[in-house]
Amino acid sequence: MQITLETKPFASLETDALVSYVFEETDPIQGRIAEVDRSAGGLLRKLAKSGELTAKTLEFTLVHSPSGLQAARLLLVGAGKREQFNSATLRKVAGAALRYLKSRSVKNFALLVREGGATEESAQVIAEGALVADFESDKYKTDKKNDKKIDFVSIVGYSDTERAAAEKSLSKGRIIAESQNFTRDLVNEPSNKLTPRILAEKAGAMAKSAGLSVEILDERKIADLKMGALLSVAQGSIEPPRMIVITYNPPSAKPGAPVIGLVGKAVTFDTGGISIKPADGMEKMKYDMAGGATMIGVMRALAALKPNVKVICVVPSTENMPGGHAQKPGDIQTAMSGKTIEVLNTDAEGRLILADGVHYAKQLGATHLIDAATLTGAIVVALAGINVGVFGSDQPFTDKFLASAKATGEKMWQMPIDEDYREFIKGTVADIQNISSGKGGGAITGAMFIKEFTGDTPWIHLDIAGTAWNDDAKPWLAKGPTGVALRTLVNLVMSY
Ligand code: BES
Ligand code: ZN
Ligand code: ZN
Repeated sequence: MQITLETKPFASLETDALVSYVFEETDPIQGRIAEVDRSAGGLLRKLAKSGELTAKTLEFTLVHSPSGLQAARLLLVGAGKREQFNSATLRKVAGAALRYLKSRSVKNFALLVREGGATEESAQVIAEGALVADFESDKYKTDKKNDKKIDFVSIVGYSDTERAAAEKSLSKGRIIAESQNFTRDLVNEPSNKLTPRILAEKAGAMAKSAGLSVEILDERKIADLKMGALLSVAQGSIEPPRMIVITYNPPSAKPGAPVIGLVGKAVTFDTGGISIKPADGMEKMKYDMAGGATMIGVMRALAALKPNVKVICVVPSTENMPGGHAQKPGDIQTAMSGKTIEVLNTDAEGRLILADGVHYAKQLGATHLIDAATLTGAIVVALAGINVGVFGSDQPFTDKFLASAKATGEKMWQMPIDEDYREFIKGTVADIQNISSGKGGGAITGAMFIKEFTGDTPWIHLDIAGTAWNDDAKPWLAKGPTGVALRTLVNLVMSY
């Protein structure tokens, strides 16, 4: 899909659809929409008066063959109250318009930004919204005869002097959205098509073509490094584990500057192991590598956006299977850090592989750690599919991260991890245990476990179990993987 910036006046655009957005106010026909209305002979004001056009968020008003315009259609998307309008809404408006028009076999459209809205940020979020909305999970459908496709989007409403800067933002939006879709493609792959070895190959190929350095640790190297927690999960599977390490090291990084460590859980299938999961819904556990896929996608974006800080991405990858060699409840394992762990439930495997992941990232020189993981069902109970659960050991670092989440329109909510919760994982026969002996606070227990391996390094944990997969299609987003947290992480790294 091509996206370009067009400075021609909207009335002269020959397009399948001219799209703009309206605000819910006494008279929604104002500014540029009043100009469109004048071209269209007052039709829009009539629709507003009759109550057909209310401008409620994501309400669609479609007019065919509007008079006075060269466009074949005019689509107005409700954007809610003007005071509450922001770039997150604009991103959704662009995405929802794309999906609405695509489903009606429209091939191209022009999106007119409102008066005062021709900013660099608008160009970026429109590109993001459109490209992310265009993603479909249809890779394995063999009959694509009747597929609908948008070929071309133009962004309108910018002057010639605004053009160059807006085009730069547009390409930034494209890099971010395409990286998010790269992550979503990985998450969509079923476990027979994406084993730890295949994930490592794909990550390696991406890194090479993006100019990033990459090292893939195989099962022997993992054993040599004594990554006992990762190995304990992998031992139940015939598929060997991999530790994927991708590094972005710019010449512009100053000595003594922070080094960001991004660690992602990549369990390519989570059966639960010997503590096996129920059959109902188990197929969804192919997405248990979403944290790792997110971090790999972040690296893809950073390679093109070129921030001034060094970033090390560490992705432990394995299957969690109940094979003959599988670890059993009660087994005691020694993590790379030397800490001993009593594995009371083999289904709490994500925290085990992350224990070695964060320890290794620190050893490689990370001064700040962020991990992302589909870690617990408990975070789904707490926050549903709306907010990412955020846990942080250093409040200034966490605040900086949350500011990036806000700026990129990703909903995140901070959860507590004070020392009182340490009790939950205190070991009786080993140093720590991988599940709580008490009840409640399951997402916090998971976070506390990982925290044990981060030491004094400022650390943020993202539980994306509820948000990495969209169970029902939204007007701006297909059902399936979301690529959540990628935009926030890219924004955070770029802010250094
Ligand atoms: N991958 C799951 C987390 C998960 C569960 C994601 C449900 C989405 C939906 C994780 O490995 C897991 O199984 N966690 C257990 C931990 C428990 C045994 C303490 C869970 O949440 O049930
Ligand atoms: Zn599990
Ligand atoms: Zn899991």
